[in-house]
Amino acid sequence: MNILVTGGAGFIGSHTIVELQQAGHTAIAYDNLSNASVVVFERIKSITGKEVEFIEGDIRDSAKLAEVFATRQIDCVIHFAGLKAVGESVVKPIEYYDNNVGGTVKLLEAMRDAGCKNIIFSSSATVYGTPTELPLTEDMPKGEATNPYGRTKSIIEDILADTQKAYPDMNVILLRYFNPIGAHASGTMGEDPAGIPNNLMPYITQVAVGKLEQLGVFGDDYDTPDGSGVRDYIHVVDLASGHVAALKAVKPEGGLHIYNLGTGRGTSVLELVHAFEEATGVAVPYAIKPRRAGDVAACYADCSKAARELGWKAKYGIAEMCADSWRWQQANPDGYRA
Ligand code: NAD
Ligand code: UFG
Repeated sequence: MNILVTGGAGFIGSHTIVELQQAGHTAIAYDNLSNASVVVFERIKSITGKEVEFIEGDIRDSAKLAEVFATRQIDCVIHFAGLKAVGESVVKPIEYYDNNVGGTVKLLEAMRDAGCKNIIFSSSATVYGTPTELPLTEDMPKGEATNPYGRTKSIIEDILADTQKAYPDMNVILLRYFNPIGAHASGTMGEDPAGIPNNLMPYITQVAVGKLEQLGVFGDDYDTPDGSGVRDYIHVVDLASGHVAALKAVKPEGGLHIYNLGTGRGTSVLELVHAFEEATGVAVPYAIKPRRAGDVAACYADCSKAARELGWKAKYGIAEMCADSWRWQQANPDGYRA
């Protein structure tokens, strides 16, 4: 299939392009480079041996999108493009709604006008809000998002579901990611956060490499086995292969499908720190800090629906996620900017 990958230069998009190419699909990347570098396309080529067609553009640019769809046969869109920093979304809500929600509406208009009926969307476990029961299954009701970023994901899910209802031959596949970490095993592609990382794994690797002094563990008094927050970490390569598997849900008759993409296993902050130390032999100094506002105690997925319907299951464990994150960090201490 010919797949338009919005946000294809980003962390998850670039790993997904590798998996798409290796499965025989053609990926066309569309990205405004607001949080990415074109260097990633050289890295992809060195892994797969295949060029990626890259179009620099913004999903809010209707004319550009119309041209892309008019000049290519696009079978499906995988829609990663968006802003994703929780804290930033609190201080810049208008930018987040404009980019994520407004951009998705423009993308849907372009798809409708061009007759492209298939979209796979990067949603998040954040749409479940504070879990009342674990593990989370796709049929549980959505919860209250705790920040504008999370709300954009929930709103976009609703927009996509309404659109599929109005155009029943459309395929809308909502993938709810749990916590993607890790990097390509080659050490040439990985997560490249700008500034001080907000997320746990890039913070750990930057402490380990000596760029940051120590990790703050946000809370040790949660109702979890060791008191620190529990999450369902998933290797980014597994997450990427989940997108290739999700193409199986694209059917001639159309439909709306939701899948959790995680491992089904919860790991605490302290467990992840110790697993990282064990996998790499590098110490990660840390200090216990107060809880971070908006964090839930524990969040992990029931992934049996994706296994049953897509034949997809995460393959990699925490040790591989740590080793691969570290290989990327060591080889690219300044990310793609080096
Ligand atoms: P990323 O920032 O690395 O990738 C997003 C890409 O989209 C970037 O390359 C950026 O330049 C591009 N982009 C942003 N706005 C754009 C616009 N208006 N037009 C064109 N391109 C634009 O982030 P990621 O971690 O790869 O996340 C990809 C998607 O997955 C996002 O939608 C994110 O919200 C979602 N998601 C991520 C996580 C996570 O923990 N990383 C968890 C759940 C969901
Ligand atoms: N944590 C620390 N110290 C840090 C950073 C994080 O202790 O420096 C803890 C957090 O309190 C939490 C855990 O590590 O318990 C994971 O935190 P992350 O920030 O890595 O991930 P979150 O679960 O908070 O959120 C991530 C993405 C969201 C997405 C969500 C669910 O950042 O965009 O997963 O998919 F919505």
